[in-house]
Amino acid sequence: MKNILMVASEAVPFIKTGGLADVVGSLPKCFNKDEYDVRVIIPKYLCMPWHFTCQLEYITNFYMYFAGMNRYVGLFKLVHEGVTFYFVDNEHYFGGPKPYGDTKWDIEKFAFFSRAALSALPVLGFKPDLVHCHDWQTGLVPVYMKDSFRGGEFYANMKSIMTIHNLKFQGVWDIETIQGISGLSDYYFSIDKLAVKKDANMLKGGIAYADFVTTVSETYAEEIKTEFYGEGLNGLLWARRDSLCGIVNGIDYDEYNPATDERIPFKYNDINFRKEKVKNKRALQQELGLEVNDKKMMIGLVSRLTDQKGLDLVAHIMDELCQDDVQIVVLGTGEEKYENMFRYFDWKYGNKVSANIYYSEDMSHKVYAACDAFLMPSLFEPCGLSQLMSLRYGTLPIVRETGGLRDTVKPYNEFESQGTGFSFANYNAHEMLAAIRYAEKVYYDRKREWNKMVDRAMAEDFSWNTSARKYENIYSWLIGW
Ligand code: ADP
Ligand code: GLC
Repeated sequence: MKNILMVASEAVPFIKTGGLADVVGSLPKCFNKDEYDVRVIIPKYLCMPWHFTCQLEYITNFYMYFAGMNRYVGLFKLVHEGVTFYFVDNEHYFGGPKPYGDTKWDIEKFAFFSRAALSALPVLGFKPDLVHCHDWQTGLVPVYMKDSFRGGEFYANMKSIMTIHNLKFQGVWDIETIQGISGLSDYYFSIDKLAVKKDANMLKGGIAYADFVTTVSETYAEEIKTEFYGEGLNGLLWARRDSLCGIVNGIDYDEYNPATDERIPFKYNDINFRKEKVKNKRALQQELGLEVNDKKMMIGLVSRLTDQKGLDLVAHIMDELCQDDVQIVVLGTGEEKYENMFRYFDWKYGNKVSANIYYSEDMSHKVYAACDAFLMPSLFEPCGLSQLMSLRYGTLPIVRETGGLRDTVKPYNEFESQGTGFSFANYNAHEMLAAIRYAEKVYYDRKREWNKMVDRAMAEDFSWNTSARKYENIYSWLIGW
């Protein structure tokens, strides 16, 4: 049996701000249980839903020296759908109203979490062969493993993987502050380790010290070695190219299944979608106050509202798009300028545009099920899960050909009757509009072709089956069995 510990800042169903939580919550279920004991450790946030918090089983606590004093580390546990989740408790750090906020505070919070997660292992009686870290919040884990946790039998030979879900966020502050917080010696703050000019970079530490680095699609693995996508770390990623690979994300096929989904009003499958899927559209049109009309093409957008998601392109052509025979349903929260932009178009084109500026798991499923097409014109996209959810619900993605979007959506080829969606190459608003209008044309003029594309979209397999095997191979290779 190989023991694997995943360390992350979020995991469904306990706490989620984006796709990272989906991955950390669903991937561990998909390993071969006879060979891998995969457990997860996350912070015990005070803002976690109470129906989970009250189920956690208290294990023990200890004190750990960190950032100038001895600090409380409480440990809790819950077995959820066959996977053991551990939770690190410290209300000083994890007591806020949401997981992330002020950058400097987040850096201290997750440096604490990283150190606490490693320190907890002997107490938990779980000795991983490999520690699998996710994103900048856990960047110090591989560093600590090569530093203070190096000596002694328990941590000897423990391997580490750093998975990059989003290179944009790196956990950067001045060297003095990060050194003070982390307790790492001067040795670590040179340019080939954590330092970037006068700053220290937690993700850089993880990438430099992990035994292996992965990211969440093959295309993104190539992109991040270039200056445009590399966010200043392309040099290091290029240097580590022989220990870097892309493994495309999957989604939870039980949670996202139109045939069994309790969150949508009308269930459907790949056989009866022609008749049944549209009932979800009708219900959503009624619920959101849009014109109730089965025949109107409905385009969805479910997203964090940040510049990563290509919303500047959308803002640019929204007036033009709204002259077309389409309905647009947006669900998202984020930067105020984008929230207000969608509110404005909702006000201006009330029966065509519905801006839902909030976070709701239920509403996201309804949008995936109800819409005909799904818009995701990202500036960059490490993998993207929303387009995978759309494919699963027979809602055809319209995407920019970048990162995981390029790897998961096959562009429509009308001559060979191939493809599962529509795509465009350049970050250009009118190129995007042309792709949307091409989709409109197929939808309105060649409905049989459209439906065949839905057939193909729903037949795709983006469950974790394939990708979990790829992680298993890397685990086995690193552990050396
Ligand atoms: P990212 O991780 O960059 O935000 P992904 O496409 O990988 O993008 O994952 C986004 C996840 O967050 C999906 O599960 C999507 O359905 C969900 N999501 C985003 N915004 C909302 C929202 N306002 N309400 C509900 N779910 C949302
Ligand atoms: C990040 C990326 C997204 C990816 C997700 C899960 O949030 O922005 O593209 O799907 O992580 O890996």
